[in-house]
Amino acid sequence: MNVNFARADLRITAGLPSQFPRDPIPQIAFSGRSNVGKSSLINSLIGRKSLARVSSSPGKTITVNFYEIDRKLFFVDLPGYGYANRSKESQRVWQSLTDGYFTRNPNGDRIKLVVQLVDSRIGATKDDLTMIDWLTKSGVPLLIVATKTDKLNKTDRAEAEKVVCELAKNCGAPAPVFYSSQTGEGKTELLARIAASLE
Ligand code: GTP
Ligand code: MG
Repeated sequence: MNVNFARADLRITAGLPSQFPRDPIPQIAFSGRSNVGKSSLINSLIGRKSLARVSSSPGKTITVNFYEIDRKLFFVDLPGYGYANRSKESQRVWQSLTDGYFTRNPNGDRIKLVVQLVDSRIGATKDDLTMIDWLTKSGVPLLIVATKTDKLNKTDRAEAEKVVCELAKNCGAPAPVFYSSQTGEGKTELLARIAASLE
C-alpha cells in the first residue's frame, strides 16, 4: 500500500468504545505510559508539529484518538498509563477504554500492529511489562519502540540497546526501533515497518 503519511486528520477523540469509528481501514495503535512520547511520535511520523496534542499535564485526558492517514488507515493514540496520581475512577475509565479498544472495537480485526513505546532511558517499567504481557496474550502483532534517544549519551545508548533488544526478544517481537521525535532518528525505519504491516 502506498501511503502519504503527511496527509493526516483527526477523525475522532473517543471517550467511550461506542464512539470508535465503524470504518474497516487498517489500524496502527500506539501504546505506552503517560509521557513516554506517543503523541510526539505520531506528530513526527506525519510531519506535523501539533496534530496530536502533546500533554503539558500528562494523563489528564483519557481518550482514544483516531487519526486518519491518507484516508487509508488509522493511527490510534491510546491513553497513557502509569500516571502516579491517578484516582481509582480514572484508572477504571482507562481500563475500560483500553480494554474496549481491543475487545469492543467494531473493527478490532483491522488492528494490524501495536507500536509499544518504552522510554529508552528507563526501559520497561512494571506497568509496561503488564501491558506488553497482556498484548502478547491477546495475539496482536507488536513492535517495541524506544523513545527519546536524543537524551542518551554514548554509554547509556549502548545499555539501552542491550536492554530494549532483550525486551523485544523476550516478548517474541521483532527487533525494536530506536526513535527520537526531536532528531527524527528512526522515522524512516518506523514508517517502513508500519507500511510492511499493512501488506
Ligand atoms: P500522554 O498523552 O500523557 O499519554 O503522553 P504521551 O505519551 O503522548 O507523551 P507526549 O508526546 O505528550 O510527550 C511527553 C513529553 O516528552 C513532552 O514534554 C515532549 O516534548 C517530550 N518528548 C516526547 N518525545 C520526545 C523525544 O523524542 N525527545 C525529547 N527530548 N523529548 C520528547
Ligand atoms: Mg499523548
